[in-house]
Amino acid sequence: MDVELLKKMAGEYAAMKIKDGMVVGLGTGTTVKYTILKIGQLVKEGLDIIGIPTSKATENLARSLGIKIGSLSEYEYIDITVDGADEVDKKLNLIKGGGGALLREKMIAYYSKYEVIVVDERKLSEVLGSFPLPVEIVPFGYGRTLHTLSGFGCVPHLRLKDGRPFVTDNGNYIVDCKFDSIDNPSSLNIELNSVPGVVENGLFVGLSNEVIVGTKNGIKVIRSDV
Ligand code: A5P
Repeated sequence: MDVELLKKMAGEYAAMKIKDGMVVGLGTGTTVKYTILKIGQLVKEGLDIIGIPTSKATENLARSLGIKIGSLSEYEYIDITVDGADEVDKKLNLIKGGGGALLREKMIAYYSKYEVIVVDERKLSEVLGSFPLPVEIVPFGYGRTLHTLSGFGCVPHLRLKDGRPFVTDNGNYIVDCKFDSIDNPSSLNIELNSVPGVVENGLFVGLSNEVIVGTKNGIKVIRSDV
């Protein structure tokens, strides 16, 4: 089955969890796009929600669909967030940031009562590390930070776009760190964030409540107790 169909299946399934009056975190990427399109359709049919976008791209998409937008500062918590992921392990730990939105995505996940992840089945993994871990760093001294990151046992690459450093919505750079495997995501998450110049990394540990997987045999839902 076409991967795009699996993404659509998972994305649209998640939209059914959105109820009237909710504050909803809106993720970033090509899978959650289907959730947002579906929410847009439901809004046209009368659903009343506030969306908190995880990126400028998602904000633009949501506004174009008539979804009301709020900011994270305005709300004490978010009822539910739907977002994508680049890799998911058996404990529902994630690698995120393939689209460069990991900082806002992680903040919004942190303040969400319930975090739903939508993926196609290719993203499931025994141990994280197949996907290079995105790390958001400040531009100042980025060469030194890159070198320090290599000391964590990965091969770091500064992400480029059109031959220049890719710049996030927050004005920072992204380093994609290729590990052989990430055996202890929890400690790596803490250690990476202790490096001066690192703003945030794409390891989401204990932040997801439910993963909706589009598979060739239909939808598979995996829940955690976090
Ligand atoms: C954005 O920075 C990412 O965290 C995305 O959520 C992630 O890359 C998944 O995107 P796709 O659904 O496009 O694969």
